[in-house]
Amino acid sequence: MSVMDEQIARLRAAAEARIGAAADGATLEAARVALLGRRSELTQLLRGVKDLPEAERRVAGDALNRLKTDLAAGLAERERGLALAARPAGAVDLTLPGAPPVPLGSLHPLLVVLEEICDIFHSMGFTREEGPDVELDYYNFTALNFPDDHPARDSQDTFYVSDAVCLRTQTSPAQVRVMERRTPPLSCIVPGRVYRNEATDASHASEFFQIEGFSVDRDVSLADLRATVQQFVDVFFGAGRKIRFRPHYFPFTEPSVEVDMACASCGGSGCAVCGRTGWLEIMGAGMIHPNVFAAAGYAPDAYTGYAFGLGIDRIAMLRWGVDDIRLFYENDLRFLHQFRGAW
Ligand code: DAH
Repeated sequence: MSVMDEQIARLRAAAEARIGAAADGATLEAARVALLGRRSELTQLLRGVKDLPEAERRVAGDALNRLKTDLAAGLAERERGLALAARPAGAVDLTLPGAPPVPLGSLHPLLVVLEEICDIFHSMGFTREEGPDVELDYYNFTALNFPDDHPARDSQDTFYVSDAVCLRTQTSPAQVRVMERRTPPLSCIVPGRVYRNEATDASHASEFFQIEGFSVDRDVSLADLRATVQQFVDVFFGAGRKIRFRPHYFPFTEPSVEVDMACASCGGSGCAVCGRTGWLEIMGAGMIHPNVFAAAGYAPDAYTGYAFGLGIDRIAMLRWGVDDIRLFYENDLRFLHQFRGAW
């Protein structure tokens, strides 16, 4: 060991002891001045490097600079230690690393679509109503002009709780429930979950969501229905999408229609998305049947009204190009996270 090496080793040992012994900020500051200040032994040695024989200069310079860096780090470390020790009991330790980020949830894509559709109809004056998921057979079918033993009942495979009670197969029963307690004019929207006892596949689930809409007054016409649906399509899917009414049959409307919207993927010329028809079905609708008014206690010739029912799942699938309804119910976060920020 050279004389210089010995001197550095001695200096390091003494400095470390002094830093370790500093019990408060003032003593530590005094140590810093004594160890690294202009008149410190270390600074003197560094100044002397230039006068050393050339062969020793570089090694001595490196060793002294390393000591200087180490002492500065030791001083800083001791300063942190003293500050931590001086902290009042229970204080938050701001020097600790931050907590791992809390994973944020997001709205389910079906809820996003549900809220958006309700908002659009709200802007047209519709109020939001609710109906029960566990429904009387009477409201689900009879009051909606499904005669007993009529084959139309079979078109909606039903989960029965008892002879008189079922899980609603559609949101339409809310029409009668709302009309029973309110008098026209009324324009309502009823979102809800519906249940059907059928095999599931890419386009069928045993639980899914619908939105029922209806408007009743003295002179409501099919033209009002058309304008309302067009407005909804313009806002939800973008302006300029054509719609068309196709004759259909529902027991609770007369006339009844299915509403189609021009396919955006092919612009109407026909493609795989629309089954080569150029059109996508978006809802069932029609003019409320007089028997439904009668069931609700309205004089059948006093009012007219339209009603429509749309499948939220189907609308969501159309909007985002989802090709399997079951994806909405599997709760696979890899799927659901794609809709973060959609609302
Ligand atoms: N409830 C029908 C269904 O589930 C949908 C529907 C069609 C609702 C026509 C309506 C309507 O209000 O007028 O298939």
